[in-house]
Amino acid sequence: MENKSGSAAALDERAERAKWFCEARFGMFIHWGLYAIPARGEWVRGAERMERDEYMRYFDEFAAERCDPREWAALAKRAGMKYAVLTAKHHDGFCLWDTALSDFKSTLAPARRDFVAEFLEAFRAEGIRVGLYFSLIDWHHPDFPHFGDRHHPRRDDPAEGNEARDFERYLRFMHGQIRELLTGYGRLDLMWFDFSYDDMSGEKWKAGEIMRMARELQPGMLVDNRLEASGDTHGAILKADPPESAGDFACPEQIVPPEGLRNELGQAVPWEACITLNNNWGYHSGDRHWKDSSLVIRMLAECVSKNGNLLLNVGPNARGKIPAESARILGEVGRWMDGNGAAIYGCGSSGLEKPEWGRFTRRGRLLYAHVHEARAGGICLAGMAGRIEKMRLLRDGSELLPGRHWNLKPYPEHAFFFLNADTLDNYPLPDPAGSVVEITLRE
Ligand code: GLC
Repeated sequence: MENKSGSAAALDERAERAKWFCEARFGMFIHWGLYAIPARGEWVRGAERMERDEYMRYFDEFAAERCDPREWAALAKRAGMKYAVLTAKHHDGFCLWDTALSDFKSTLAPARRDFVAEFLEAFRAEGIRVGLYFSLIDWHHPDFPHFGDRHHPRRDDPAEGNEARDFERYLRFMHGQIRELLTGYGRLDLMWFDFSYDDMSGEKWKAGEIMRMARELQPGMLVDNRLEASGDTHGAILKADPPESAGDFACPEQIVPPEGLRNELGQAVPWEACITLNNNWGYHSGDRHWKDSSLVIRMLAECVSKNGNLLLNVGPNARGKIPAESARILGEVGRWMDGNGAAIYGCGSSGLEKPEWGRFTRRGRLLYAHVHEARAGGICLAGMAGRIEKMRLLRDGSELLPGRHWNLKPYPEHAFFFLNADTLDNYPLPDPAGSVVEITLRE
């Protein structure tokens, strides 16, 4: 066994831990909590600078009487999602589990339920890997900085000064809650910490201690990079020799990065683009800017073509129901995944230039051509003349013959195919969201 440097060994360990993640490629993010009642997004308390008592009104009515995490899990399964992450606690500090360290929790609200436990049970029952989102920020806790903080709801109020606040006591509380989640709910596949900003980053959270606790209590669990990063920086995970607190994967937010994420040595870094279905993470009753299923399918293909994942968000409403629009979109995505999942799961970058007409994904000798644009003439596989053993339309297995039409003869170095073999054309596309051809490459 070659004697690898510490950093090389650590990167190998990270790659081993992330194998399932890089196979899964597609997950569900669930943002849910008290903020679903005001229904103006998960930052509503901070954005509207709400006083504590004003926000507590929602606690007193959080019954979530129609919440059934088994419905959430069934929808994720139908959509072809392989992992799911629930906000156990968001920045407002409201806990969806029966924490012993706070009364601001769903088991004391009218719901009287431990939704973390119900979520984990429901998704595990569907064979879906599970993760928890945990906010490092806690606007409800008296020892978290208020006046002058960049985000706190009471940031502008000098009467909310921080002289009497004990941040060490806050850290003991925060670490204690993390320990509860890592010890009280069985095996977790992923922990999604959120987020660092200004000096509130890294060792300010005692990130090293958090990571050591995570590795000790949940050895195979993945941790994101936001113990010292956020949506506007990937942090140290891109370094050649990242500290433990840099985490196992990066999470670009509301964007598919221009190219796959690589570290200083050019090595691929596991990543997932976390993206909302409309423009809000938490439920927003007025936000009707829904992405259509074609966009979602193409985003997913783009993520995989760049060695990344898509973590797609749903925001259940105050009753605990996933919005009908979200369910419709995910149902359409699931029907596409049913026929084309082989071009997503376990696939990654092809190493080829992005084709004009769509995207490539690849798994070993299987190259997947995701055709997103109808074309006149044969669809061109640039420079691939002689490299193709066979081609099949993935969703139905039908044979596609190499294009030999007279108008292709001037381009002998390329290979071509037609999606509509009988009419030698590519319109209309068999599946406008993405017509996928499975190409078996010669050895
Ligand atoms: C940002 C948002 C936060 C959301 C997270 C998900 O940090 O502020 O509300 O939970 O992104 O990526």
